[in-house]
Amino acid sequence: MRSSTWPAFAFLAAVLLAAAAATVAHASPSLKVGFYKHSCPQAEQIVRDAVRTALASDPGVGAGLIRMHFHDCFVRGCDGSILLDSTPGHPAEKDSPANNPSMRGFDVIDDAKAVLEARCPRTVSCADVVAFAARDGAYLAGGVDYKVPSGRRDGRVSNADEVLDNNIPAPFDPVDELVKSFARKGLSAADMVTLSGAHTIGRSHCSSFTQRLYNFSGNLGQTDPSFDPVYAGHLKQRCPWPASNGQMDSTVVPLDPVTPGSFDNRYFKNVLAHQVLFTSDQTLLDRTDTSGAVELHASAEDAWKDAFAAAMVRMGNVEVLTGDEGEIREKCSVVNSY
Ligand code: HEM
Ligand SMILES: *[C@@H]1O[C@H](CO)[C@@H](O)[C@H](O)[C@H]1NC(C)=O
Repeated sequence: MRSSTWPAFAFLAAVLLAAAAATVAHASPSLKVGFYKHSCPQAEQIVRDAVRTALASDPGVGAGLIRMHFHDCFVRGCDGSILLDSTPGHPAEKDSPANNPSMRGFDVIDDAKAVLEARCPRTVSCADVVAFAARDGAYLAGGVDYKVPSGRRDGRVSNADEVLDNNIPAPFDPVDELVKSFARKGLSAADMVTLSGAHTIGRSHCSSFTQRLYNFSGNLGQTDPSFDPVYAGHLKQRCPWPASNGQMDSTVVPLDPVTPGSFDNRYFKNVLAHQVLFTSDQTLLDRTDTSGAVELHASAEDAWKDAFAAAMVRMGNVEVLTGDEGEIREKCSVVNSY
């Protein structure tokens, strides 16, 4: 009896231990909610105040901050590398075409960081400021509030050419590419769909989707037939061709044409109605698992908001620096000189 149950028990225990270890490795145990509770108790309030102040003069900046956290985490992990300025002969992430000129909100981060440095010098990382600010952008646009685990450290490296090289997905990517892109960061297809719901606020420059309107699959004059034709017609009026071709022009349109400024589940209804800007949005209907997730989120707003919060926390764990890795930058746009 004994000799046959014991190996089975040992095997089960080993499996459980391995599973626990895998979970821990994935959850980056060193990030924790309230990391600055003692070292800088006002830290999160300072960031929220800075975001609220910025939104008062530019309501779109919250969308920028949500996107900034995504673009930070997907390149060298959530380490604030997106905030570093280019130096002579060395273009930084900020100046990749994926970020320049479309990324906005850098000044909000700098404002928050200036207050933080005055109150708690060299304590709160820029990477954490971005994570807090993204949460606050979502919260102030529609009431998705969630606790952000913190304790990230700032990286010292930022390379423009890493941004589009297998890191940030492109708006013309089909669903399998998107799934692979998120898998490279340890995120699931479900997370990818949930997080795409961020396209319920904010804007896009015309050049991010004019190929889909006017040169679909390299056929000049052809429009992607998966567009709702009325919506495509409306977009063509806003974004003429070839004025914006190649160059990032300054014309922008809302990502969500129905409720552009509110953080609701309208994005998923737009996907179902074929009223979304990017191939990367519309293609979510091209696989049964992802299209099922779109339908689910379109029908249950509160559940989507909960899922969004949880997925943002997972995204915020990607390849973080903790402990004595990296540094606490004093100014978010430059590495410390010491
Ligand atoms: C799934 C792959 C994704 C692709 C291909 C993609 C692509 C894009 C593109 C091309 C824009 C417009 C940029 C411009 O021309 O101004 C944009 C905007 C935006 N994206 Fe995504 N995105 C993706 C996922 C995400 C995720 C995961 C988030 C955050 C959780 C996000 C948040 C945003 C927000 C909030 C905006 C509006 C930014 C603003 O108004 O300044 N996106 N995205
Ligand atoms: C049309 O698309 C093809 C294939 O993507 C591309 O090579 C070509 O440069 C595009 N033409 C214009 C005018 O943008």
